[in-house]
Amino acid sequence: MMNIAVAQSGGPTCAINASLVGVFRESLKEPEIDAIFGSVNGIEGIIENHLIDMKTLIRSNDDIELLRQTPSTVLGSCRYKLPDWHEDDTVYRKITNTLIQRQIGAFFYIGGNDSMDTVNKLSEYFREISLDIKVIGIPKTIDNDLCITDHTPGFGSAAKYVAATMHEIIRDSSVYSMPSVTIVEIMGRHAGWLTASSAVLHALGETAPHLVYVPETEFSLEIFMKDVRHEMAKHKAVIVAVSEGMEVPDGVQSGVVDNFGHKYLSGIGKYLEEAVRSEIGCKVRSIELNVMQRCSSHMCSSTDINESEAIGAAGVRHALNGETGKVMIFRRVNNMPYTVVIETADASEIANKEKFLPDNFITKSGNNISDTAVRYFLPLIQGELNIIMDRGVPKHFTIKESVLK
Ligand code: F6P
Repeated sequence: MMNIAVAQSGGPTCAINASLVGVFRESLKEPEIDAIFGSVNGIEGIIENHLIDMKTLIRSNDDIELLRQTPSTVLGSCRYKLPDWHEDDTVYRKITNTLIQRQIGAFFYIGGNDSMDTVNKLSEYFREISLDIKVIGIPKTIDNDLCITDHTPGFGSAAKYVAATMHEIIRDSSVYSMPSVTIVEIMGRHAGWLTASSAVLHALGETAPHLVYVPETEFSLEIFMKDVRHEMAKHKAVIVAVSEGMEVPDGVQSGVVDNFGHKYLSGIGKYLEEAVRSEIGCKVRSIELNVMQRCSSHMCSSTDINESEAIGAAGVRHALNGETGKVMIFRRVNNMPYTVVIETADASEIANKEKFLPDNFITKSGNNISDTAVRYFLPLIQGELNIIMDRGVPKHFTIKESVLK
């Protein structure tokens, strides 16, 4: 018999709790697994020995259903970078103490490319000290920028929200007779996946978004203005999707960075709005979708939620099969009918790396998204959950603040 631990790390999504449910439900089925510990605030909880017995928290099927539809990370999160253990192993010794004291035989880390750095380093360290604790990464990120996997859990729900919201913005923006420009700023760091996914509306016959700018293409304000004028000649209400990760002049963004050296990106929408106002002088508005695009679970994709649970469950089976230092991944077998299989990749091949939009996902003009990309995105946003409501608002599964402290 052994215990297991699970933790959530990095930026929130609508589907991280579904992966937690996957780990939890699968572990309940395994006679080899006894206690299921949840670590508070990612790896920080393991370092500080701050673990919660998940069986005392999730007590019924109703709890499980609620947790599946609750956005963000119920156990809290972190952006914690482990040092190189060859240089300083202090924190690794703390982690080892907690895991041994709690008799943990497998640790599941649900996170993005930074968190997979933790999976990689920890599994290497355990190998080095001959400690038999399996470490498995369960991917997640709305940025969809993890290498090897076809897509990441959490992305489909964010893409569905972005498309649905963009659709509503198109209706709202076109009511007046005067010409207008609406700029929608979308998350995704240095990769344009989420911004590009707004183009799925083309499959519905919408001409908008008329312009889509992703970090994979070079950006020039001069060409942007030319593009906008060109579209204004054709459409009364021009809709632009722009990625937060575009290169902007110094001072537009805050300049603050996190522990992994990532900049806090925000501000390109406002910057472009001001540029359009001063150069063209038409009605112009910028909308930053901000955290809503990663936590609006009322608009989540059931394909995403179901896959996120399945990939968490698969992680448990692979750990029990003796694997470690691996990240679970999706391989798309077919687009129509959409089919994926779950496999594994070495954490070292995913940690700290980014996957960018392929060239054929961007039109030759560099300011829009191709039909090939739309065909890739569409299956990921399919299906809705039957959301449990409470007094007119989606109900969430929460843990008391005092337990998380
Ligand atoms: O990594 C996911 C993400 O949501 C990015 O899209 C965004 O740039 C970043 O996290 C924001 O980070 P934070 O949650 O630390 O503000």
